[in-house]
Amino acid sequence: MLKHRKDNINNKISKVIPNHLAIIMDGNGRWAEENNLPRYAGHKAGVKTVRMVITESIRVGIGILTLYAFSTENWKRPKQEISSLMGLFEEIIEKEKEELLENKIRIRFMGHREELPLSLRLAMENIEEETKLNNLLLLNIALNYGGRSELCHVFRLLSEEIVQGHIEPSQITQELINKNLLTSGLPDPDLLIRTGGELRISNFLLWQIAYTELWFTKTFWPDFSKKQLWKALTDYEKRVRKFGGKV
Ligand code: IPE
Ligand code: IPE
Ligand code: MG
Repeated sequence: MLKHRKDNINNKISKVIPNHLAIIMDGNGRWAEENNLPRYAGHKAGVKTVRMVITESIRVGIGILTLYAFSTENWKRPKQEISSLMGLFEEIIEKEKEELLENKIRIRFMGHREELPLSLRLAMENIEEETKLNNLLLLNIALNYGGRSELCHVFRLLSEEIVQGHIEPSQITQELINKNLLTSGLPDPDLLIRTGGELRISNFLLWQIAYTELWFTKTFWPDFSKKQLWKALTDYEKRVRKFGGKV
């Protein structure tokens, strides 16, 4: 799904932008360590990068931005880090609400909600409801999300449909699986950016990134700049996407 865009920074016409950009926002902890700060300060410092990415996404015309905020494996971290992160998520939702509404951003969360603190869950539901008619940018936040857990859920659901006699095994198609994923109705990410230097996927959108273009940087998330985002977008423009075919 390629679109043309105007390059606002250099005032020249650029070829294509990703319609769906996904980001693994990694490196907050190491950024904090490097700056002799507690890990929590790294997560907090990462919020301004989130703001920058949202602003730039709107500016260039990205339609869907999916951010990995907390994985199903992140519960393995010290209790104190987890509770400060949960507090930060809630604080951001409250603080940014007006701006999200003003900028016509729609927020959706993907992941298991039951395990999250009740006050956070309520804040999430509330902002989803309040922004549901916005359509300038869809901001998808993966919070307590895991790709394997998402697929497990789909397998269980479709098995149940078979047991109940609603479908035959032969009716399980890629389309049906897509329909039952948390990203149901959305196109797959065109570009996936991971900051923080690790060259792995860490259980993010396993099914959806089959043909996504990958872009990695060593820069820690709090230091990820507008310039680097534009570098990722420019590199993406040069990629030849073949989807297994011949161009
Ligand atoms: C990413 O930064 C944020 C979350 C996983 C919540 P990290 O906290 O993983 O930072 P590093 O990788 O330890 O530097
Ligand atoms: C991935 O980062 C999860 C998020 C950014 C939310 P991690 O820091 O949890 O990944 P690993 O442990 O390095 O694979
Ligand atoms: Mg990490």
